Amino acid sequence: MFSPNSPQAYSINNLLLLTTIIGGVILLIIGGVVFYSAFRFRSGLRPGEPPQIFGSRNLEFLWTGIPVIVLIVLFGFAVNTMRQIDPAPGQQPPDVIVTGYQWWWRVEYPQAGVVTANEIHIPVGKQILFQLEGGDVIHDFWVPQLGPKRDTIPGSTNYLWLQANTPDVYLGACSEYCGTQHAWMRIRVIAQPQAEFDQWLQQQRAAATPSGSDAMRGAQVFQQNTCVNCHAIQQTGTNWAGPNLGHLGSRQTIGAGVIENTPDNLAAWITNPQRFKPGVKMPGYQLSPADLHALVAYLESLK
Ligand code: CUA
Repeated sequence: MFSPNSPQAYSINNLLLLTTIIGGVILLIIGGVVFYSAFRFRSGLRPGEPPQIFGSRNLEFLWTGIPVIVLIVLFGFAVNTMRQIDPAPGQQPPDVIVTGYQWWWRVEYPQAGVVTANEIHIPVGKQILFQLEGGDVIHDFWVPQLGPKRDTIPGSTNYLWLQANTPDVYLGACSEYCGTQHAWMRIRVIAQPQAEFDQWLQQQRAAATPSGSDAMRGAQVFQQNTCVNCHAIQQTGTNWAGPNLGHLGSRQTIGAGVIENTPDNLAAWITNPQRFKPGVKMPGYQLSPADLHALVAYLESLK
C-alpha cells in the first residue's frame, strides 16, 4: 500500500492491511444490517407498536463473543508485528546514532568515528541498529518505507532497526511537532550496496581537505567568521550547535532538505537562511561577493 521496502515496513503494512480489511468487513455487516432494518421495518408498513423482546442470552453471548474473538485475533497480529519490527538490541553497539535537533538530524557512525547530518547512508540487505537521542525537544524519526516511527527524546534513549531491501534514496521526516520548522526536518536514507557504502564511509572518515585556490581562501573566510562557533569541519565526537560541514559537498541537500545543494543555493542560504527556513538558528552573513564565492567554493569542495 505504501511501497514498503524492508521486512519491518512489510510487517507494518500487512498489519495495517489486515486491520483495514477486518474493520471494513465489520463496517459492511453492521452498516448492511442497519440499512436493511431501517428499510424492512420502517414505520407505516405495520401499524401499532412492534413486538417487544426483553433479553436474549444467545444474542448477548454473540455480541460479546464475536468482538472478543476479533480483538484477540488483532492483538495477536499486533504483537507478532511488534516482535518482527523490534528484535531486542541485545549487547550489540548501535551502528548509527541519530540525534534530533531544531531542525536537523545529527548522524554519527560511532564505530567508524564519522559524524554527518540529515543524510544517512546504509548498506542494503542488512539490519541496522539505530540509537535515537533528543538534543533539545522531542522529535520523531520516521522513514515510512523502511520501518516504524520512533521518538527521539532528550534524556531517554530509543532504539530502532532499519533495513532497506534495495538500493535507493528513501525519504523521511520528523513526525512530531517540534517548532516552526518541524516540516523541514527531512531525512534521506541512501541505501547502497555494501562496497559503495564502505567507500562512502571511508571517504567520510578521511580529513576533509579543500582543493583549489578559491577554496583555500574560503577556508580562511570560514575561520574568520563565526561559522566555526557552530560548525565543525573535522570529524569530532563532541556535539556542536550546528551540523558538521565536513564533506558538505557530498550531500544532496542543505538545510535538512529545504533546498538542493548547489553553489548558488548555498550562497543564498549563507546570505539569508531565514528566507528558506524562517526561525532557523543560523544568522545571515553579509559577506563581500568575493568572500562569499570563496566560502561557497570551500564548502562545496569538501567532498
Ligand atoms: Cu523535529 Cu518535528
